[in-house]
Amino acid sequence: MEIIEFKNFGAYYGEKKVVNNVTFPVYINKITAIIGPSGCGKSTLLRSINRINDEIPGFKVEGSLLIDGKDVYKDVDDLTVLRKKVGMVFQRPVPFPMSIYENIAFGLKIHGVKDKSKINKIVEKTLKEAALWDEVKHELDKNAYSLSGGQQQRLCIARSLAIEPEVLLLDEPTSALDPIATQRIESLLERLSEKYTIVIVTHNIAQAIRISDYIAFMFKGELIEFGETSEVVRNPKNKLTEEYLNGKIG
Ligand SMILES: Nc1ncnc2c1ncn2[C@@H]1O[C@H](COP(=O)(O)OP(=O)(O)OP(=O)(O)O)[C@@H](O)[C@H]1O
Ligand SMILES: [Mg+2]
Repeated sequence: MEIIEFKNFGAYYGEKKVVNNVTFPVYINKITAIIGPSGCGKSTLLRSINRINDEIPGFKVEGSLLIDGKDVYKDVDDLTVLRKKVGMVFQRPVPFPMSIYENIAFGLKIHGVKDKSKINKIVEKTLKEAALWDEVKHELDKNAYSLSGGQQQRLCIARSLAIEPEVLLLDEPTSALDPIATQRIESLLERLSEKYTIVIVTHNIAQAIRISDYIAFMFKGELIEFGETSEVVRNPKNKLTEEYLNGKIG
């Protein structure tokens, strides 16, 4: 079942159209990877889902983008509600300049959770979900910046999970990490997809093939191919997809 649908979706920065006529579904509790060469519009598509691009002057969209059947740009006027439903993790981990504990508690407080024992429980639960608990449980009051890059990224994932999103968006979440930290994030995402819908942008074709259930291949603002990952890899319908997967372009 789909939770998100792009329908003839397009996006502009000012007069420049960077996403054109994109139509594909994002299925619930699956990992969808958006892949394609630099500048093809991957981040723009991803950032449209939680309307984080609204902050860029001149950004506009056309067509529709539905979440649970509701148009994100037409039927949603409370962005806080949208962003609670759709969490986001960025390329570089950006913890808040505070303790590990507070990094998670902070967002909860913003969303109105005040009860200390409830916060404690959620901190533990989400750090466990993000596979970080065992490494930090004795030093929750340590500054988040003292963690390694991979740990910081897992903390950012835990922070997103704390507000119980349905969808988790990740824009190249491992490109700043070493192979071991990358591997940990990949297996974490596979585990999380049992409970969450995941949309990940990645430059790393091997990573997309390893972890995604569906692939959307973008090229110059257009969606060239969408399908089940195994099918797209085994039997790409478009020559461009085949060339990209074989490292011949981008
Ligand atoms: N804030 C912005 N203002 C103007 N143009 C932008 C802005 N952000 C992106 N663009 C342009 O939109 C197009 C798509 O960019 P986008 O960041 O979505 O691509 P991408 O596929 O994520 O690329 P990369 O793999 O390099 O991250 C590019 O031509 C880019 O120059
Ligand atoms: Mg990008």
